[in-house]
Amino acid sequence: MTMGMTAQEYKKRIDEALAGCFQGAAELPLAGLAEAMRYSLLAGGKRIRPMLVLEFCRISGGDVQAALPVACAIEMLHTYSLIHDDLPCMDNDDLRRGRPTNHVVYGECTAVLAGDALQAEAFGAILRSPLPAERRAKCAEALADAVGIDGMCGGQYLDMLWEGKPLSEEELTEINGRKTGALLTAACRMGVAAAGGGEALDEAAARYGAALGMAFQIRDDVLDVLSTDEELGKPVGSDAQEGKSTYMAMFGLEKCQDMIARLTEHAKQVLKEHFEDTAFLCALADSLAVRSN
Ligand code: IPE
Ligand code: IPE
Ligand code: MG
Ligand code: MG
Ligand code: MG
Repeated sequence: MTMGMTAQEYKKRIDEALAGCFQGAAELPLAGLAEAMRYSLLAGGKRIRPMLVLEFCRISGGDVQAALPVACAIEMLHTYSLIHDDLPCMDNDDLRRGRPTNHVVYGECTAVLAGDALQAEAFGAILRSPLPAERRAKCAEALADAVGIDGMCGGQYLDMLWEGKPLSEEELTEINGRKTGALLTAACRMGVAAAGGGEALDEAAARYGAALGMAFQIRDDVLDVLSTDEELGKPVGSDAQEGKSTYMAMFGLEKCQDMIARLTEHAKQVLKEHFEDTAFLCALADSLAVRSN
């Protein structure tokens, strides 16, 4: 197993790799689209999903350098989901990652296309990576499952469909598992797949990712109520304004914190049972449970 990295080191590596993306396409007449794609992709962001890809690859015995395009791919996909999530027809938000949202700067049509292109480029990056063909296929399949109708897009649809309707806890979990949990789960699974890990590791990674993802969205809902625009880099109060059901509205702060703590413990427990050298991923889960942005 190769030596681990700190979160900062991972982030630096990921940011450098992303900075090299779509530069070639930045010539007229496509310069505007490339600029819009890079604007959101390089706007910062915590880079949690690519970090999960790389660390799961490492602890599954894989080549982290060869998995770097896969890590970039999931960040492209995630960035696409954010650009579209902010559109006037969806959450109608004007601040993201501390900057005006993509459609505010480039217009709705370009923002839609920047998202579309980032999604296609994500699959391209996986398929062009130096990994063995079978592993590339597994990564692409895991990503496709996580963003299609059973995953993020399905979740975003339900999030919209059920706006303003009082939801059961089950329905809320259904939305969040799809819109947020699926992509975080895919990140973990793609790391294992990039390393050629078997079914037991895949399953453990999926269970960790699902618990982490649920805790992540609960914390996101909490921050939407308790944080500030400046600290969060996106507008607080967006959920209430759009009539969204959230964990915070349903259960209040104390129960949310309790749920986050339990999910985080569960995630860590699953990991320790199946992987060695889980310190980074346990610390990551702990830090996300109390994150402030
Ligand atoms: C925000 O994701 C969208 C949700 C799934 C809640 P992140 O909180 O990971 O956003 P960035 O990438 O750091 O901007
Ligand atoms: C959306 O959840 C998750 C995505 C699929 C982008 P939110 O709408 O709560 O995400 P934020 O708060 O805008 O980042
Ligand atoms: Mg949304
Ligand atoms: Mg939103
Ligand atoms: Mg939110």
